[in-house]
Amino acid sequence: MAVVLALETSCDDACAALVADGHVVLAEDRASQEDDLASWGGVVPEIVARGHIAALPGLIERVLQRAAMRPEALAAVAVAAWPGLGGSLLSGVTAAKVIALRRDLPLIAVDHIAAHLAAVHLGRPVVAYPLVGLVASGGHSHLYLAHAPGEVELLGGTIDDAAGEAFDKAAQILGLPYPGGPQIDRLAEQGDPRAVPLPRSFLGDGTLRLSFAGLKTKLLYHARGPYGRDPLGLDARGIADACASFQAAVTAVLCDKLELAAQRHGVRAIAVGGGVACNRGLRSALVGLAARHGWELLLPEPRHCADNAAMVGALGYFRWQAGRLAGPDLAPLPTGVMGPRKAAGQLSRQEPVG
Ligand code: KG4
Ligand code: ZN
Repeated sequence: MAVVLALETSCDDACAALVADGHVVLAEDRASQEDDLASWGGVVPEIVARGHIAALPGLIERVLQRAAMRPEALAAVAVAAWPGLGGSLLSGVTAAKVIALRRDLPLIAVDHIAAHLAAVHLGRPVVAYPLVGLVASGGHSHLYLAHAPGEVELLGGTIDDAAGEAFDKAAQILGLPYPGGPQIDRLAEQGDPRAVPLPRSFLGDGTLRLSFAGLKTKLLYHARGPYGRDPLGLDARGIADACASFQAAVTAVLCDKLELAAQRHGVRAIAVGGGVACNRGLRSALVGLAARHGWELLLPEPRHCADNAAMVGALGYFRWQAGRLAGPDLAPLPTGVMGPRKAAGQLSRQEPVG
């Protein structure tokens, strides 16, 4: 059994996990800064990066304790090194480098977006490739053809907002707190998905493009008048209906594009990762989609859809097995350097040096 210590600090959570053989999660933990950040109204990069530095030693100790493992028994250290916030990534990358150097362990740099897809390996000893994968998160909504863990080809994706970003903005329009996805998910259960007519951009147009900007604007006018500036004119019933209608529209386009991509590439398995894959409406629609075609649906547990370190441990293991190691000069590639929407598509060409 080869155990990888995995770290993920690309945004506002610091996460650590121990993953054996790329699929068995021995222990995992996270340190959220949500409460500290609430008073700032969002993520403050410097505060978050400092918070990660403070949290990581305790997190690593805790996962080792929970798995009853001594650090000497670790086989390798993996870290999400791109894309993400520069300071946040640097905290995780520095911690991983220190551990790898001190313990003389292989160091593995992992693409955060590709790791979202590699999460399908967790709890699943065998995954048959190729497959078509969708990563729908706060900064990313793209479709990939995956040939192996981390070996992905970009097929298409959003031309404006990411799906998670759209959920967060829709929640803001409806006066709901950040992050909006879970709030909309919860309220959608009590609403009517047919109550508010909302656009489904590019639906059935034969392309793999996605767009959520029009949907968001239509919701804004529905909730806040023809100029989008009125006070929220919806009661609790109206908000629930808006949530259900919004969720139904996002779900419809995500499923439509996933279906098209899978048919076009003749695959028999579809995978979905990223925070939006926690959404219960989307999850049940995906079950229906896969069942209709007789496809295998690879859908990680919700805790492995949102940002987590176990997915980094899964992908890290496969990269390690393929001999793709990073050196002590590993430097993170923040979002601004490489562009969030290209990250996983460039995987094979653009990797940190070392
Ligand atoms: O993958 P993730 O944890 O972080 C990024 O890499 O961005 O995704 C976060 C996004 C947020 O936009 C959040 O609102 C959304 O995932 N999200 C959801 C749900 N849970 C999280 N969206 C819809 N329904 C949910 N249940
Ligand atoms: Zn993510």
